[in-house]
Amino acid sequence: MNPGIVTASYIGATILFILALGGLSNQESARRGNLYGIIGMTLALLATISSVTGNVAILVGGLVVGGSIGLILAKRVQMTEMPELVAILHSLVGMAAVLVGFANFLDPATHFKGVELTIHDIETYLGILIGAVTFSGSIIAFGKLSGKITGNPMLLPGRHWFNLGLLLATIYVCKMFVDQSAAGHGGGLTPLLIMTGIALLFGIHMVMAIGGADMPVVVSMLNSYSGWAASATGFMLNNDLLIVTGALVGSSGAILSYIMCRAMNRKFLSVIAGGFGTTSGAPTAEEGEQGEVVALEPHEVALLLKDSKEVMIIPGYGMAVAQAQHIVYEITKKLREKKVNVRFAIHPVAGRMPGHMNVLLAEARVPYDIVFEMDEINEDFPDVDVSIVIGANDIVNPSAQTDPYSPIAGMPVLECWKSQTTIVLKRSMATGYAGVQNPLFFKENTRMLFGDAGKSLDAVYKEL
Ligand code: TAP
Repeated sequence: MNPGIVTASYIGATILFILALGGLSNQESARRGNLYGIIGMTLALLATISSVTGNVAILVGGLVVGGSIGLILAKRVQMTEMPELVAILHSLVGMAAVLVGFANFLDPATHFKGVELTIHDIETYLGILIGAVTFSGSIIAFGKLSGKITGNPMLLPGRHWFNLGLLLATIYVCKMFVDQSAAGHGGGLTPLLIMTGIALLFGIHMVMAIGGADMPVVVSMLNSYSGWAASATGFMLNNDLLIVTGALVGSSGAILSYIMCRAMNRKFLSVIAGGFGTTSGAPTAEEGEQGEVVALEPHEVALLLKDSKEVMIIPGYGMAVAQAQHIVYEITKKLREKKVNVRFAIHPVAGRMPGHMNVLLAEARVPYDIVFEMDEINEDFPDVDVSIVIGANDIVNPSAQTDPYSPIAGMPVLECWKSQTTIVLKRSMATGYAGVQNPLFFKENTRMLFGDAGKSLDAVYKEL
């Protein structure tokens, strides 16, 4: 294809990607944003394929195989498994950056000299470095999110020194690589392989050191890394579209990580260093001083709801597991018919991925104007008659405010215990993702409705 048309298509695709990101920032425009993204990616793929001169059959073959795997995965994946899927897909971006980096380095057709060679070498080095960290970090994140690896942080003694050592080693090996590559005779492969090993180790160590409740930050950080890896690959291959697209993913992931850090009250730098938000095993203040738990039956819950004026619904991961969003909305409609003001309070890290609850509520067609973010609504709890916590745990744990030794200490939480009555729907007294006991369940004004949230709410709906 004419290079002018390819460039124009790349610019078109870039604009569509920016429009896609803009659209995705708001629920009302999210569908449109997705559509822009699909059109942009199709355009980018067509332009890239048509600009390739040889090996088109291999390229199309790869597209068919990769596309089919992606399609099957997307069709099969349950909503609750989405974060694991995202994590493992990030690992593929990292792996691609590593493989393309090595292929580019070994390609006898690339002839750079002098400063150009040094710049190209550094691009290659950075692409492989970020790609390898993303690859191994994402695999560990996948393991942690899917429960295949323990969610507890692995805290090696002197881990920050270890990380610092790895960082200094990569800088030293970079110099070795640039020197050996400049000397010619195909030199530089050994330092490149050594650095890949160090980067893989760093990715594993960084994510292993992070404790349960802090995983959201890690997932969005790996998302950002995968973008920077793609961008570095774009520099290496001299592909403008890859540079821009990678930078868009990298920067939007970084902004999301920042938002997540703020939501979790964590410092960004300590996230990168790993092992943040974790205690040294000191006893928690709440341990051992729990009171009585009062359980209710569905008809009692229905009565409480009918007699309320203000109801706040707090959805969590359990609502996703129970797929209870539809029955939640049926109950909402019924209560609104009875002139009860029903609102939803969404914690920024509820569920297992950013926006998880918003997606579920949108799927059930809950109107956006009754769905509120934590910051908008947390002060309203004293005026609420009944708060219903549906399969949420860590995000409504008061020990985040009261127990400085808790692994979730300092994380902002939804203060539902300030409402007149709180009803918690869950199956047992089990802990949430962070593995900490929740004093909310033992408070005087808390009532439990045990069972699968879907079934419990079905029963409440019938009673209503
Ligand atoms: P969690 O703290 O994980 O609590 C979920 C609760 O739902 C569990 O205690 C569980 O108790 C209950 N549950 C599970 N299945 C249920 C069902 N079928 N019916 C009723 N209840 C059910 O969830 P959360 O409050 O939403 O907090 C999110 C946590 O995940 C935070 O720690 C957050 O840091 C972490 N995380 C978030 C993300 C993002 S980006 N959102 C990513 C990774 C990790 P039972 O077993 O007793 O039923």
